[in-house]
Amino acid sequence: MAGTTKHARLLAWIDEIKELVQPDKVYICDGSQDEYDRLSAQMVASGTLIALAKRPNSFLARSDPRDVARVEDRTFICSTSKNDAGPTNNWMNPAEMKKKLHGLFAGSMHGRTMYVVPFSMGPLGSHIAHLGVQITDSAYAVVNMRIMTRMGQGALDVLGDDGDFVPCVHSVGKPLVAGEKDVAWPCNPEQIHIAHFPDSREIWSFGSGYGGNALLGKKCLALRIATVMGRDEGWLAEHMLILGCENAQGERTYVGAAFPSACGKTNFAMLVPPAGFEGFKVFTVGDDIAWIKPGKDGKLYAINPEAGFFGVAPGTGAKTNPNAIATLTKNCIFTNVGLTDDGDVWWEGLTDAPPAHLIDWKGNDWTPEKNKDGKSPAAHPNSRFTAPASQCPSIDPKWEDPQGLPISAFIFGGRMSKDMPLVFQAFNWSHGVYLAATMGSEATAAAVGQAAMRRDPMAMLPFCGYNMADYWTHWLNMGRRIPNPPRIFRVNWFRKDANGKFMWPGFGENMRVLKWILDRVQGKGFAVESPLGWMPRYEDLNWNGLEYDKNKFYELMSIGREAGTAEAHAHEELFDKFFDRLPKEFIYERELLRSRLWRSPDHWELAHEA
Ligand code: GTP
Ligand code: SPV
Ligand code: MN
Repeated sequence: MAGTTKHARLLAWIDEIKELVQPDKVYICDGSQDEYDRLSAQMVASGTLIALAKRPNSFLARSDPRDVARVEDRTFICSTSKNDAGPTNNWMNPAEMKKKLHGLFAGSMHGRTMYVVPFSMGPLGSHIAHLGVQITDSAYAVVNMRIMTRMGQGALDVLGDDGDFVPCVHSVGKPLVAGEKDVAWPCNPEQIHIAHFPDSREIWSFGSGYGGNALLGKKCLALRIATVMGRDEGWLAEHMLILGCENAQGERTYVGAAFPSACGKTNFAMLVPPAGFEGFKVFTVGDDIAWIKPGKDGKLYAINPEAGFFGVAPGTGAKTNPNAIATLTKNCIFTNVGLTDDGDVWWEGLTDAPPAHLIDWKGNDWTPEKNKDGKSPAAHPNSRFTAPASQCPSIDPKWEDPQGLPISAFIFGGRMSKDMPLVFQAFNWSHGVYLAATMGSEATAAAVGQAAMRRDPMAMLPFCGYNMADYWTHWLNMGRRIPNPPRIFRVNWFRKDANGKFMWPGFGENMRVLKWILDRVQGKGFAVESPLGWMPRYEDLNWNGLEYDKNKFYELMSIGREAGTAEAHAHEELFDKFFDRLPKEFIYERELLRSRLWRSPDHWELAHEA
């Protein structure tokens, strides 16, 4: 019925937290289907979940409208030294933060059940995996954690009587007084604190029930704490999808790709090659996080530490991402999407035409008329689906291989509506690390209150648990340590024309870019030197099945000297924050970039070169 353990340290910690948060009950999760069914039935009865008539064993949750995304300005790295958190993280003295948290957590689970959620990031028992135990008062977090991680008795068994785990304490921060009726989505938005203690490797999260704020195995453990483990132990924890691409000869090549939140990882990971790419197949290993370790043979091997997808719903449709659509037919949780009159879900982009009527993410009647100005969508822009990875038709047969899969290329891509070309390749490892570190990207709905444009190094700005400059040095060192590091590429699916329309069709058509990348990795593809890096000419991409004007392609690939110089200047602004911790290589790389731009024409076009 419930999970069992004889792990003395774990039991003592459970008692300690129970003393602090004063729950009505304590329940250790076993991770069984029966437990999942019981919890979801309870949440249906209490109004937190709505069972979907059209999708077996699937539910809709609507959050409090004040609790819809990650909250970066309430996320803290509490290292002993402020310098170890670095200028891009919020820091607080660990003792001070502990004091603050103890105040917030005291009695915070009054009237609620305290769930103990043991989980493994990575396949159970794999030498690459790490265990965590999340204490939470959110049954919604429990059922999501069961999809997103290997959760329950299996994890307890691996933990044994004395195994190591990362303690994760989570409360929605809404204790109930005797007789008080609960709300559908309890939270405490004014008091959100997402706190990480890299030195003692613990996580405390208060006030939010949403996504990365509440499913603590994901960004908190598998990225912020894991980056620190990786720094200390010689590996990488990255905000990356992992995919394998098979060619007509049956050879499979794996790549890792880091795009910032809501910038296309899930879609790229599940890519379906378009007509003209017969014989090619893309396999999904992961869609959000990669743990990457050097193998004995000198290659880098990656695993996906997660077991599910917590994917952006809007924009996911049969044309853009058929593999995701097929993944979502059963056993899923949808959060903040629309509810149709026949008991199904809907979001912008699921179908071309919206239903004539539905209930929107806020629980109100909605008709397409209501969203004429685009400001009242049926689904929140950061609405999400939680789905088991095993249900994905493109899942790689080896996605749970405990050894991981060998990575041949790293791809980095921001969301840039201007100036940034579709694709280019770094000249070498340190130039590639520079390109990744200086990546810019435009705001999305994945985190509240983002600046319109910001630097998002390696797509890790919100997820690096230590000083970003030390992380760059770690990247440079990783490349030095192995004989033949993966090739590094930059991409941008999001460049727009003067009318504000995407210049590149994206989604499945991104296969054309992926193919060139794989050609380069295999030493087959041709490239021209540009001020930014190596670029394909028009004739170096496979255009079978797509009519794409050559001049438009060259426009898509063009580099404005003024914009490029402004970009290089912006790199300087980023670097200035890090003073003496900045890798010296970056200073040379920036100078080389500036001199290449200085020599280039006002409007650099491949057409002139090719
Ligand atoms: P997180 O889960 O937040 O880390 O995001 P992600 O990187 O997995 O982003 P995802 O693939 O969910 O895409 C986010 C949004 O970008 C969705 O609305 C997609 O439809 C859209 N998108 C993805 N790929 C493309 C593309 O190639 N072109 C265009 N125009 N939009 C895309
Ligand atoms: C992201 O924001 O990058 C996500 C969603 O993948 S969350 O888990 O909420 O962080
Ligand atoms: Mn993400």
